[in-house]
Amino acid sequence: MNRREFLRTSAASAFFLGLGARKMFAATAVDAPGNSVPWVTLNNGVKMPRLGLGTMTLRGDLGVRCVADALSLGYRLIDTAMIYDNEASVGEGVRQSGVRREELFITSKLWKADMGYENAKRGFQTSIDKLKVDYLDLYLIHRPNGGDWKGSWRAMEELHHEGRIRAIGMSNADFAQMDDLISNFEVKPAVHQIETHAFFQEGSAYDYLKQHGVQMEAWSPFAEGRHGLFASDSLAAIARKHGKTVAQVCLRWHFQRGIVVIPRSSQKAHIAENLNIFDFSLDETDLASIRPLDLNTTQFPEWS
Ligand SMILES: NC(=O)c1ccc[n+]([C@@H]2O[C@H](COP(=O)([O-])OP(=O)(O)OC[C@H]3O[C@@H](n4cnc5c(N)ncnc54)[C@H](OP(=O)(O)O)[C@@H]3O)[C@@H](O)[C@H]2O)c1
Repeated sequence: MNRREFLRTSAASAFFLGLGARKMFAATAVDAPGNSVPWVTLNNGVKMPRLGLGTMTLRGDLGVRCVADALSLGYRLIDTAMIYDNEASVGEGVRQSGVRREELFITSKLWKADMGYENAKRGFQTSIDKLKVDYLDLYLIHRPNGGDWKGSWRAMEELHHEGRIRAIGMSNADFAQMDDLISNFEVKPAVHQIETHAFFQEGSAYDYLKQHGVQMEAWSPFAEGRHGLFASDSLAAIARKHGKTVAQVCLRWHFQRGIVVIPRSSQKAHIAENLNIFDFSLDETDLASIRPLDLNTTQFPEWS
């Protein structure tokens, strides 16, 4: 069965049987064989890998190679966005990997310029056309600061009900926007993707999302290396203790908090290293020495 047939038959039979998108996708989620990454079940029953590849700046042939490398190593979640200008490369990497579409979890994001009901429908279509896929696993509003983001959300709700997006969510939303979505819209966000790392631990957002059953996802889980993250003495000491690297300690810290992570790397050795975090645990002493690293402020003021 090819991709179109898979989607058509699973969507058609689910709707014929009177099932909503929630049940339909819960029924079709597949744990990829040989994939060591645990999956989390989102608030709509869809399963999402807890670690994936971030692709910002990975364009052209580099993007194709990194995505294909990651999938060959066992990654199943790939995070892209319209504004990264690499959806075509991500799609090509997916095809070169030979991994079946239904084993993958592909996220893309609606950019600010595409805000509003009609624009969002068009933006979604452009993204899946570039990726050359029939559906997205997760579609996020990238930056809802300005524009008719509620119109975008209504369009995304419809696309979700039509079976074209398995889960919808937000990125970089504030508490008021999240409250609005949770209280006043039919489909509540399944995921909120925000900046969080050792230097910006986002305790309030963490508690809020947990309380409302919205999966927190970390962008820039390494703070992109800013503020000397990879040279931090505290993180290096923990890494030495466990025979791991600073990168692995950071990712393990996110994982133990229950946060989905999407580290980016352009190097196959780092992509492999970042996957290798499921054979050790940070103990209470380690966690206690990471807590004071919180500067409680963004490391990306240029995007605020
Ligand atoms: N929603 C949003 O607004 C938003 C914003 C920013 C990012 N994101 C998403 O989040 C993803 C991750 O964030 P990010 O790309 O900003 O940065 P990041 O993942 O925090 O850091 C990437 C940097 O870490 C280095 N690195 C990766 N693995 C390493 C390792 N094992 N050892 C040493 N260095 C390592 C990479 O260098 P090498 O290439 O040399 O490995 C790269 O310079 C993005 O790619 C994107 O998908 C979303």
